[in-house]
Amino acid sequence: MTLTHAPHSDVDLFVDDILYDPYPTYRELRDAGSAVYLTQLDAWALPRYDDIRSALRDWKTFSSAGIALNDVVNEILTGTVIAADPPEHDTLRSVLSDRLAPRALRDLQNDIAARADTLVETVLRKESFDVVADLATAFPMAVVFDLIGLPEAARPNMLRWADATFDVCGPLNARAQSALSAIGEMFDWLGTLDAKDLKPDSMGRAIFDAADDGRIKRESCIPLLAAYTSAGMDTTINAIANAVHLFATHPDQWDLVCADPSILPAAFNEVLRYDAPVQVFGRRTTTDVTVGGLRLEPGTEVLILYGSGNRDDRHYAEPDCFDVTRRPTDHLTFGYATHACAGQALAKLEAHAVLGALAKRVRRFELGEPTRHLNNVTRGLSSLPVLGFEPRVR
Ligand code: HEM
Repeated sequence: MTLTHAPHSDVDLFVDDILYDPYPTYRELRDAGSAVYLTQLDAWALPRYDDIRSALRDWKTFSSAGIALNDVVNEILTGTVIAADPPEHDTLRSVLSDRLAPRALRDLQNDIAARADTLVETVLRKESFDVVADLATAFPMAVVFDLIGLPEAARPNMLRWADATFDVCGPLNARAQSALSAIGEMFDWLGTLDAKDLKPDSMGRAIFDAADDGRIKRESCIPLLAAYTSAGMDTTINAIANAVHLFATHPDQWDLVCADPSILPAAFNEVLRYDAPVQVFGRRTTTDVTVGGLRLEPGTEVLILYGSGNRDDRHYAEPDCFDVTRRPTDHLTFGYATHACAGQALAKLEAHAVLGALAKRVRRFELGEPTRHLNNVTRGLSSLPVLGFEPRVR
C-alpha cells in the first residue's frame, strides 16, 4: 500500500485544542485504521488497544531509541533506561527494581498511609484548598524526594524540570523547544552530585553503589537519577489530581468507593484507564513490519497512544463511561512488557493512601473551575480548587 492510500490524518495532536480534549480525535484515528500516518509529523500513530500491546511486546522491532518524538531529545536520552533496549535496558532497570517491587514497598505502606492521613487532615481544616498544589503535588513530591534522597536544594526546581522532561519528549514544537533549557539545567545540576550528596540508604545512593560495584557505568548514574526523579513526580501528581476531579464530578462513583473502600485499587485503575497521565511515547522501527496490513519501513517513528488504546471500544465496552466497577487491570496507562512502568507499585501506594484518607472524611466536594495543564506528553491539571466539602458523618 502506498502512503497516499494508507489511512492518514492532517491533525496535529499537540496543539492546545487537542491537548485539552484529545479523545474525539483519538476516536477518529482508531476508526481510520490500525496505523495512521500523521502528515504533520511524518510519523505513524498506533491508536488501537491491540496494536499498542503488540508493539510494546515487540521491543526488537519497536525500539525505544525513538522514545521521544524528535531526534534532538532521543540523542540526549541515549543510554537512559527508558530509551535503551535490552540487554542494556535490563542492566539499568535492575539497579532499582528490587526497591520498587511491591514486596519491598510493603514495608513503606503504613508510613505512606500515615503521612497521607496527616496531610489530608491538615488540608481539610482549611476553608478552601487546591487539590493540585496541596494534595496531588505535595504528597508525591515529599515521598519521591525522600525515597531518592535528593538534597533540599533541588526542591524548588524539581517540578519545573520534571514537567519539562515530558514536554521535550513530544515533537520539537514551541512547547518542547522552550522546555529544552530546563532539561539542560536539570542535567547540569544533577551532574554536580556525588554519592555523598544523596541520603544514605536512598534509591539515589543505590544508583551510585551500583556504579561502584561495576554493575553499571559511572556515566549512567545521572541519567538514571534523572529518569526516576522526573518519572516519579508529574505522573503521580496528575493521577491523583485526575482521580479527585473524576470522583468529584461523578459523585455516584465516589459513593461506591466510600461504601466499600476495598474497591479503591480497582477504582483507581479505572481512573488511570479513563484519563491516562502519560498519553504518548514513541518507538522507532528497526525493520520492515506490518501493522493491520500496512507496511512500515525501518526507521519509522511510531506514536504509542496509551490514552487512545484505553478508550478503544474494540477492547472496553462503553469506554467513555467512567465506571469504578469495571476493574480494567489490563489498561495501558503504565505501558506494557519490557518498559512497563518501573514505579507503578509506588504510584498506586501513594494514590490509594491519599484517596483512602479522603474517602474516610469527604462525602461531597464542591469544586471551583479546574485549569488544565498542557504538556506534550502528560495529561493533568494545574489547578483544581475545592471551595468547600460535605464531611462524611461517621
Ligand atoms: C500514575 C503514575 C505513573 C504513570 C501513569 C507512569 C507511566 C509510565 C509509562 C506509560 C511508562 C512506559 C514507557 C514506555 O512504554 O516506554 C513508564 C515507565 C517508567 N516509569 Fe512510570 N509512571 C508512573 C509513575 C512512576 C513512578 C512513581 C516512578 C518512579 C519513582 C516511575 C518510573 C518509571 C521508570 C523508571 C520508567 C521506565 C521503565 C523502563 O524503561 O523500563 N513511574 N511509566
